[in-house]
Amino acid sequence: MAGERPLSGDSIAINRRYLDSLLVESRIVGAVHPTAETTLFGETFATPVTTGALSHLKPDMASLAEGARAAGALCFIGMGGCDEMHACAQTGAKLVKIIKPYADPEEIYSRIECAEKCGFLAVGMDVEHAVNVRDDRDSVVVGKQMKLPTLEELKSYIQSTRLPFIIKGALSVKDAYTCEDIGCAGIILSHHNGLMRWAVPPTMLLPEIRKAVGNRLTVIVDGGMQDGYDVFKAMALGADAVSVGRPLMEPLASQGPEGAARVITEMTDELKAMMVRTGAKDVKSIDPAVIHPVDWMR
Ligand SMILES: Cc1cc2nc3c(=O)[nH]c(=O)nc-3n(C[C@H](O)[C@H](O)[C@H](O)COP(=O)(O)O)c2cc1C
Repeated sequence: MAGERPLSGDSIAINRRYLDSLLVESRIVGAVHPTAETTLFGETFATPVTTGALSHLKPDMASLAEGARAAGALCFIGMGGCDEMHACAQTGAKLVKIIKPYADPEEIYSRIECAEKCGFLAVGMDVEHAVNVRDDRDSVVVGKQMKLPTLEELKSYIQSTRLPFIIKGALSVKDAYTCEDIGCAGIILSHHNGLMRWAVPPTMLLPEIRKAVGNRLTVIVDGGMQDGYDVFKAMALGADAVSVGRPLMEPLASQGPEGAARVITEMTDELKAMMVRTGAKDVKSIDPAVIHPVDWMR
């Protein structure tokens, strides 16, 4: 069967190998204790670590939001309806809704409206989930028909809301420019757990994308961020924030919001451990030159 034929180009593994090839120099002499405070979409957070845009969580999405709030982190939420968005908002968390590229535009507009009513900071779309891994057909996600949105459709979603709009799944300078042109406020560099085979590691593209868009777009990166040291590397290479998905899931399922909050706090502490050792007093002053890519780790 075609489904059993192995595919080349496991983007999750490629991503890990790339992150492992980045070594960090020390600048501890004269260093000061840093702050990880980060401003995103007009709000200041304790950390640049955000939750990944997750869905179908145990025990539920509101518990993830509660955990993010407790850790002082921005919470992205993925697939789900308006009831779930209300439940998340009631936790007091600062939220961004990533909406699926539904074939039915009403599914999209209703969630945008709900995000506005619930006081979300921003909305966005995981465009990368519109097509299948192994063919170019529009995907079906948990029984819902998706559709690859045209630029005109994306523009009308963006223009329909006063909230900043983020595109998740941009993974090139070309996509970053297009997102800027159509009015996005930010992008998430992501291959959505390897939905694209042979994808360039999002962290590898960060420097060129940052250089291309300057500070005109908020640039967030996700994918295989295992600890605060990975977060540090992404921040050094130009990210405004780093999303963490799978590492939160088991602690959330077994310990509830405290489990997710603990992981975010630990990752923030690891980030700060690396910041102090590289002489960065805050997230804006992490110097990309402390990162040394080496071939012999690949
Ligand atoms: C269980 C699960 C559900 C997810 N649901 C969504 C979703 O609804 N929307 C979305 O944009 N991404 C979704 N993602 C993808 C994540 O946002 C993220 O891109 C991916 O997991 C890579 O990050 P990670 O390696 O930190 O998990 C999901 C991932 C997982 C593991």
